[in-house]
Amino acid sequence: MDNKKSLYERFGGDQQVSELIDQFYYKVLFDKLLRDKFLKADMSRVRYQQKRFFSQMMGDKNTQYTGKDLVEVHKDLNITNQQFDKFKVHLKNIAQDMEVSGADLEELLDHVEKHRDQIVFSKAV
Ligand code: HEM
Repeated sequence: MDNKKSLYERFGGDQQVSELIDQFYYKVLFDKLLRDKFLKADMSRVRYQQKRFFSQMMGDKNTQYTGKDLVEVHKDLNITNQQFDKFKVHLKNIAQDMEVSGADLEELLDHVEKHRDQIVFSKAV
């Protein structure tokens, strides 16, 4: 039996993940490189689904992501690698502001990185 706490638990659970995602989209929607992609999005839905996605991705056994398939949602948005990298920069900055440890931050960014192929469909750099 593995008694090691999940990243989700080490992070501080539901409240902290909610805070991370809220602050994150606040930044993203002010970012010239990213904001146009969200013009047609229902942001309260995105935040809600993203919180569930992140909770599950970070190891919360009580959360089952029930949102849309990531490829279906992102494949026609023409997202570039540069935009994906910027997405990670915002996440990193906010997690650092929240005083997440270096190791936990690396783990979080590694999880996100695994989804690059489901998000980035543009061949542009
Ligand atoms: C540059 C990076 C990204 C951009 C510009 C972007 C953009 C978007 C947009 C516009 C939507 C709303 C789509 C719609 O309502 O039709 C969305 C939804 C979503 N995205 Fe992303 N995304 C990015 C990266 C990611 C990453 C890295 C993940 C996960 C690790 C992710 C997970 C999700 C989820 C879970 C939803 C909600 C799906 C639903 O509503 O059921 N996105 N994204």
